[in-house]
Amino acid sequence: MSQKKILIQLDADSQASVFDAVVAIESEIDHLLQYRDVKAEDVRTLVHGAMFTRGPKELKNTAIFIGGTDVAIGEDLLKQVRSAFFGPIQVSVLLDANGANTTAAAAVIAASRHVDLSQANVLVLAATGPVGQRVARLLTHCGASVRIASRVLQRVEDLRASLSERDQMDNISVCQTSSKEELQAALEGVSVVIAAGAFGVELLPKELFVDADLLRVAIDLNAVPPLGIGGVDALDKAVERHGVTCYGAIGVGGTKMKIHQAAIQELFTANDLVLDAEEVFAIGQSLES
Ligand SMILES: NC(=O)c1ccc[n+]([C@@H]2O[C@H](COP(=O)([O-])OP(=O)(O)OC[C@H]3O[C@@H](n4cnc5c(N)ncnc54)[C@H](OP(=O)(O)O)[C@@H]3O)[C@@H](O)[C@H]2O)c1
Repeated sequence: MSQKKILIQLDADSQASVFDAVVAIESEIDHLLQYRDVKAEDVRTLVHGAMFTRGPKELKNTAIFIGGTDVAIGEDLLKQVRSAFFGPIQVSVLLDANGANTTAAAAVIAASRHVDLSQANVLVLAATGPVGQRVARLLTHCGASVRIASRVLQRVEDLRASLSERDQMDNISVCQTSSKEELQAALEGVSVVIAAGAFGVELLPKELFVDADLLRVAIDLNAVPPLGIGGVDALDKAVERHGVTCYGAIGVGGTKMKIHQAAIQELFTANDLVLDAEEVFAIGQSLES
């Protein structure tokens, strides 16, 4: 008898995400076990329940999904999950708290359809949020020259320092974008801009976006009006505007959903996968070919 595929959803929020549950069920699993209000100290017992119920060869049919709205808490839960494993007795785990990994992967993949990122100068607006940080991480991974921006210079200085702990530093520069003049300077020489700002906040007004001479691709991840880039529609998916290929949040969303489903399916191919931003991105890239 073939083993049932069981996905264990760990969510630190008071209600486990319906969105994550629906995507899980649509990803051809057999059973979804949902745990809400999960605290770091709960994780070991939950994970051991997953590890000790099946033989080592069967553990690839059990996997863990870490969701929830707070990405920092999700990262901590991932650490706790990993520390609960020992030897080959483990199960695969995917971190996608607040959709940050799948959204960042989808944004970078959208850009890569139009420019060779290894040769590109890319500006990430509001790079300090969980999505922006991952976008910056994935862009450096692709060899792009990345300019990370914030309203407060110190915040991107701190981000560059933390990125340097995991990646090479020489292709990351920082800039402050709290005025029109600073935004104009930040856009100089840039061929791709990715706006990863909080929802309902315009980061780049239309007149600056239209004036940016070398800009070829603009991607906005904010779906709530006012949108992050003036003149880009949330539904845009490779829509040409003023000579720039534009994507809005919903335009990127289709790719994000495909990556999310493929990442869940990938979990059930082995019992030792840890799918964080880079691994989720690699899954997204494999869907493009
Ligand atoms: N399509 C999807 O499935 C999906 C999934 C996840 C997220 N998203 C979207 O992706 C975007 C980024 O998500 P996130 O969770 O990383 O965002 P976030 O943490 O809420 O905000 C990101 C950054 O935006 C800047 N910001 C915040 N309030 C601002 C304001 N009033 N004015 C100007 N800048 C402001 C801040 O940067 P500084 O303080 O450094 O300037 C902050 O670090 C959001 O629009 C979110 O809705 C979409």
